[in-house]
Amino acid sequence: MEKKKLTIGLFGFGCVGFGLYEVLQRTPALKANIKRICVKDKNKDRQLPSEHFTYDKNGLLDDDEINTIVELIDDADAAYEIVKSALKKRKAVVTANKKMVAEHFDELQELQSTYNVPLLYEAACCASIPIIRNLEEYYDNDLLESIEGIVNGSTNYILTKTADENFTYADALADAQSKGYAESNPILDTGGFDAKYKLLILIAHAFGIVAKPEDIYNIGINKLDELELNYAREKGLKIKLVAYAEKTNEGTIKTFVLPKFVNKTDKLFSVDDVFNGVKTKSFFSDTQFFVGKGAGAYPTASAVLSDISALSYNYRYEYKKLNNKETLAQDDSIFLKVFLRHDITSGIELKQKFEEIDESYLNQKTGFIIGIISLKCLKEIEENYENTSFVLFETVDSKLFLKLYKNKKEYAIDN
Ligand code: HSE
Repeated sequence: MEKKKLTIGLFGFGCVGFGLYEVLQRTPALKANIKRICVKDKNKDRQLPSEHFTYDKNGLLDDDEINTIVELIDDADAAYEIVKSALKKRKAVVTANKKMVAEHFDELQELQSTYNVPLLYEAACCASIPIIRNLEEYYDNDLLESIEGIVNGSTNYILTKTADENFTYADALADAQSKGYAESNPILDTGGFDAKYKLLILIAHAFGIVAKPEDIYNIGINKLDELELNYAREKGLKIKLVAYAEKTNEGTIKTFVLPKFVNKTDKLFSVDDVFNGVKTKSFFSDTQFFVGKGAGAYPTASAVLSDISALSYNYRYEYKKLNNKETLAQDDSIFLKVFLRHDITSGIELKQKFEEIDESYLNQKTGFIIGIISLKCLKEIEENYENTSFVLFETVDSKLFLKLYKNKKEYAIDN
């Protein structure tokens, strides 16, 4: 098949933009060249002479020779305006901006269809792992049951450095920033928001669910404290920030982003540093596991490059699963086994909110409860009680749990 010649207008020349420039220099077989680069700051020192740059977005958007826009800027709102204009001008677009794609999924999909032009964003999820195209194409026929993964490189880097190398949280975060892994506003990483944006994109391609950021609950790693970190150490567990989506027996999708204890037998246990890992479970192929670097200039640029290459063969997402009309599970139907840390005064009250308690502990300053609780109650606790934090052990099959729970209750009443 003849490769299409791509003339690229590049937005952004930060860590990933420069990475892409270098990667493209080394892949001449791909008929793709960057014609011009649009950047914001006129006074910043750049690695290329000034004639490569423009400061006016229309310099790229109005250039008829440019048939492909690659958008790698930091600001999701500005990126949205650029991508929208580019698609309306029938230019193909490649972006790495997960926040922008997650927030405007429906509209971006419609624009692609109205203007008959592709938008690709493999680099937006898990950088070097080709997960979107896999979910879109490979699992088209097999019945996907769940996806679970470490989808944020910075938080995984911080968790690894603090647990294994005795870094302080602040030093590990600064290190992640200096290596170009973290978002410019790092709360997006540490608060689990970046992971949530990625999860929103993944569930659209995995299950055909288009949801909004406010529909998915996210807790990050920024509230973790010594009690749960010590618990993990003592039990030989690791804490990982996990994005999760599973099809329930009722046909709904339960999904969230939470820190989770993982044990040695879990594939995610050995996914450390800036690596990401995604487990899929499907009816015929059973469990599969994808791993690769999840942030940084070259791993992200490699995914952008792969999308550019896919464009040269006229690839586009077909969004076939969007016809599935799946819905999200209600919070009161999601039951989780968690470790809940609380302050010294609220333990008794919080125990009432659990369906079942395995263990509880209290010292002079703080305490924890391990047990099964609904996501609805967890959210209420997070909103109303200070100094609480949770770590997930596992999701609980709600139908099975309710049945066992009901049997237990009836048994208790009868006896
Ligand atoms: N800040 C993101 C991360 C960059 O750490 O995963 C890659 O999406």
